[in-house]
Order: sequence, then C-alpha cells, then structure tokens
Amino acid sequence: MFPVTRMRRYRLNENIRDIFKETVIRTEKLIMPVFVDETEKDKREIDSMPGIYRYSLDSYEDYIKYLEEIGVKNVILFGIPAHKDSTGSSSYDRNGIIQRAIRIAKDNTRLNVIADLCLCEYTDTGHCGIIKDNYIDNDATLYIYQKEALSYADAGVDIIAPSGMMDGQVKAIREILDKNDYKNTIIMAYSAKFASNLYGPFRDAADSTPQFGDRKSYQMDYHNGNEAIREVDLDVKEGADIVMVKPGLFYLDIINRVKSIYKMPVATYSVSGEYSMIKNAIKSGLLNADARDEALTSLFRAGSDLVITYFAEEYIKDH
Ligand code: PBG
Ligand code: ZN
Repeated sequence: MFPVTRMRRYRLNENIRDIFKETVIRTEKLIMPVFVDETEKDKREIDSMPGIYRYSLDSYEDYIKYLEEIGVKNVILFGIPAHKDSTGSSSYDRNGIIQRAIRIAKDNTRLNVIADLCLCEYTDTGHCGIIKDNYIDNDATLYIYQKEALSYADAGVDIIAPSGMMDGQVKAIREILDKNDYKNTIIMAYSAKFASNLYGPFRDAADSTPQFGDRKSYQMDYHNGNEAIREVDLDVKEGADIVMVKPGLFYLDIINRVKSIYKMPVATYSVSGEYSMIKNAIKSGLLNADARDEALTSLFRAGSDLVITYFAEEYIKDH
C-alpha cells in the first residue's frame, strides 16, 4: 500500500496538531525593550514603530508596573539623556537617566532588569565609542564602558548587555564587576551584531543616529558567518554568560550555527526594523496578524533561548 507513512496524520485537526508542536514560545523567554527619555515630559509614540513609546521617568514607572501585571518577566532598558558630549559622560552618571530607571524598576517590580550598555545615545557624535583622529578608539572606549558598567551595577541591574562591538568589551566589563564584588551580575554580550539596515527605527527612537559615517568599522559585515562564530568564541572566553545574535530574521543561519556549536544560552535581538516591517504590514492588511507569531516562532525554532522583541508586550497580552 502506498503511501506507508502518511504525514498528514500529524495535521488532522487542531487538537492533533497541538501534541506535535515542536517549538512553543514560553512567555518568560521574551524580553521587552523600553526607552526612557530624560527630555520627555510624558510618553510619546515612535512614528515608525506603532505601539512603541519613549517614556518620561514618571510615565515609565507606571508602564513597567503595567508590564509586570500583564505577565512580562524581562525588560531591556535604553536611556536617552538630556546631555550629550564627546565622551558620553552622562552614561556613567550615578544619577543618570538609565541608572535612575534601573533603580525604579528594581524598587517597584520583580522584573529581570537588563540594561543596554553603549555610548551612542550619550555621545554628541552618535557613535558607540569615543573618537580619536577620526577613528573610534577601541581601548579608550573600554575605559568608559567600565565606568558605565560599574554605575549600572551600583544601581542594582541584573544583567548588563554591552552592544558597542568594541574588542575586549566583555573582558573589560567582567573585570571591573569582579573587582568591585559584583560577581553575580550577568553579562549578556551582543556578540555577533551586524551593521544592519534594520536599525533605522531604533535610531529615531533612541536619538542615536551617527552624525557622520556609519558603524561598519565596529559592527559586523553582513556577508560573514564564520566571523560571527569567532566573535561568539571570543565573548565566551572573555566571560559572557549569554551570547547574542542581532538582528534575528535575516540571521537565522547564524543563530542556528551558534546554538549548535556552543552549549551556551543564546539570545536573539529581533530589531526595530523587523518589528516595523511586520507591524506595519499587519496594520495595513498586507499580512495576516499571525505573521507575528510565525516570525517569533522561527527565532526560537532556529535555536534562540531568549528573544528581545518589541512584540513582547502584545504577544504576552494575547497569550
Ligand atoms: C546601540 C544599540 C542599537 C540597537 C540596540 N543597541 C542600535 C545600533 O547599533 O545602531 C538596535 C536595536 C534595534 O534596532 O531595535 N548600540
Ligand atoms: Zn551603540
């Protein structure tokens, strides 16, 4: 008799399909990005990201309490300071916007508080490091990252997520944390972060567009896969607790390779451009609303353990 194996048996009806689902999203694996803006008086929607807002410190407090109420477990915070300068000095101000936001979250919620660590929101150039002779100076930037990391840890952050793609950043941060007895502060390293065209909406949101040039001298070239493995390898050796691939949807092959090589927790950052494409396509009726869940599921199926996504809030509300 032909066919012997009928694959369609697995798909007979919804109840049957349910027992054969291999990848099911657990809501505690989702991380919601939150923008806190020192220059805002209230919350303000980001034009290119429907449903995503920048929050003033006051409105932020209400918002994170609300996130906790609906079942969100993790947030990643981005600070937008009132003052920018050549060394990004607001980034390590003990009373800076992100340091205050970390304290508010720790004092008022039980959320896991992750903080992005970079300089592009804080420098007047919009670059992720400080500049000497028209070049982003790697080692001078590490020194600032250390001060920033220490101020985050002092504010009580659970997880520090360095995103600047400087060489040696994980080691530099691990060292300063250990030296100051922050042995349990977790590092989630943006290990394979590509110079992507998908960051546009974020740069509007975080006010971090480079004022000249681009980020290609520090973020990865999207033609490269083996190099991503080397980046991950270095971060693992430098002491990263979680390694990250960013963006997500155009980089599913990288996620899969990283997960199969390293027995490490792998995070994926599904970035602003991914959100905007899908959200706007659904909003305008071009795509069915389930496209959101299909995209999120693909990130987990590829091998992600954790996913940072602007859909976290609405996905968790819907489930
Ligand atoms: C800062 C940073 C960026 C993102 C996260 N941290 C922007 C960039 O590198 O230009 C991108 C997030 C997104 O697009 O959602 N280094
Ligand atoms: Zn940056």
